[in-house]
Amino acid sequence: MRQQSNASLPAEESLLETAAGIQALRADTPGCESVIHFNNAGCGLVARPVLTAMTDHLQLEAEIGGYEASAARDVQVRDFYASIADLLGTGPGNIAFAGSATHAYTKALSAIDFRAGDVILTTRNDFISNQIAFLALRKRFGVEVVHAPDLPDGRGVDVDAMAALMRYRRPRLVAATHVPTNSGLVQPVAEIGRHCRELGLLYLVDACQSVGQYPIDVDGIGCDLLTATCRKFLRGPRGSGFLYVSDRVLREGYEPLFIDMYGARWVEPEAYRPVDSAARFEEWEFPYATLLGCAAAVRYALRVGLEPISRRTPALAARLRDHLAGIPGVRLLDRGPAPAALVTFEVEGWQPQPFKTALDERGVNSALSFREFAQYDFGDKDVDWCLRLSPHYYNTEDEVDTVAAAVAELAERGRRNR
Ligand SMILES: Cc1ncc(COP(=O)(O)O)c(C=O)c1O
Repeated sequence: MRQQSNASLPAEESLLETAAGIQALRADTPGCESVIHFNNAGCGLVARPVLTAMTDHLQLEAEIGGYEASAARDVQVRDFYASIADLLGTGPGNIAFAGSATHAYTKALSAIDFRAGDVILTTRNDFISNQIAFLALRKRFGVEVVHAPDLPDGRGVDVDAMAALMRYRRPRLVAATHVPTNSGLVQPVAEIGRHCRELGLLYLVDACQSVGQYPIDVDGIGCDLLTATCRKFLRGPRGSGFLYVSDRVLREGYEPLFIDMYGARWVEPEAYRPVDSAARFEEWEFPYATLLGCAAAVRYALRVGLEPISRRTPALAARLRDHLAGIPGVRLLDRGPAPAALVTFEVEGWQPQPFKTALDERGVNSALSFREFAQYDFGDKDVDWCLRLSPHYYNTEDEVDTVAAAVAELAERGRRNR
């Protein structure tokens, strides 16, 4: 379904291939007027149609009532599911809305009847909250958490070693994060998925940083469950995410531990029946304005094109890395052959917050990561903190150069103060 929300964009097919197209996308992004936003891995800047979809709905709720407004926008609400299904190459019935990626992830975990001694096989670069959830499952149910080893030089997980662990340990769950929060590493999630399919293992993928940055095809990845937020590279609103649930998982009757009147029918006093679709992972209450904002954001991303986005966005990050590599006192921390648009580095002579504040003062949005966010990765790299800069397709080469110049100036100051 083409949304009228993209009417503000010119009709050319490849917006990202011309300066005029990029200018149109920037003009459609209010935040571009006031900041150099290099914190898309935290939260992307929303485009105007996303803002409009949300504010219009809040207005309608105020005018006619909340339940009445969601009923009036039923077609657009359903497009939340259809748009994400289009994004992932699946059906609308395989998508559940969630308040965050972590909400989606813990709902998915809660559907697995872990027993003492079950193995969760994961990687050293899975997201902090996922690692904490695995440890919580270990504490409560006595599961064993096994981390597959990495290839040398931090080039990501060793898939052969992980596959060997799959065969010998027969994990109850295999879990991998596509792009971790703490570096630009891209993990080979489809290769892992091939082994899971071959062995019939349940496979959960965290695609929080990759959705909106790369084309994602759940069949190609071979996952059973996939989670993401809408607020990062998809440029949706805060407080939104989703869970993909495969037909196999639905057919086999997986359901979240706590399922409510939306996810299940109370068919008789002593029994309930989960609904057939991924809606069994949802609850009765939805933030409808947010949901509509997400649908607008996903349609927008599809209009801009995930293939062109996946070429431009990591290329802007690569340009930034090239600049930073030449700055004395800066150590780049990203590994792997084709890193994503998360540029991480440490700087000599600075404490984390003053360094970030100095960039804030120059109108550059950035984020900090700490050892606690990535115990294995930062331990291996021997860093306590780093700065993360994450451009998106609507950023410009000039902005990249300006940010690199700001880092160079601050790094020079840091070296003088040492
Ligand atoms: C890789 C990854 N997974 C999961 C999350 C958690 O997302 P949320 O804050 O929506 O729960 C993040 C957030 O930064 C992330 O980077």
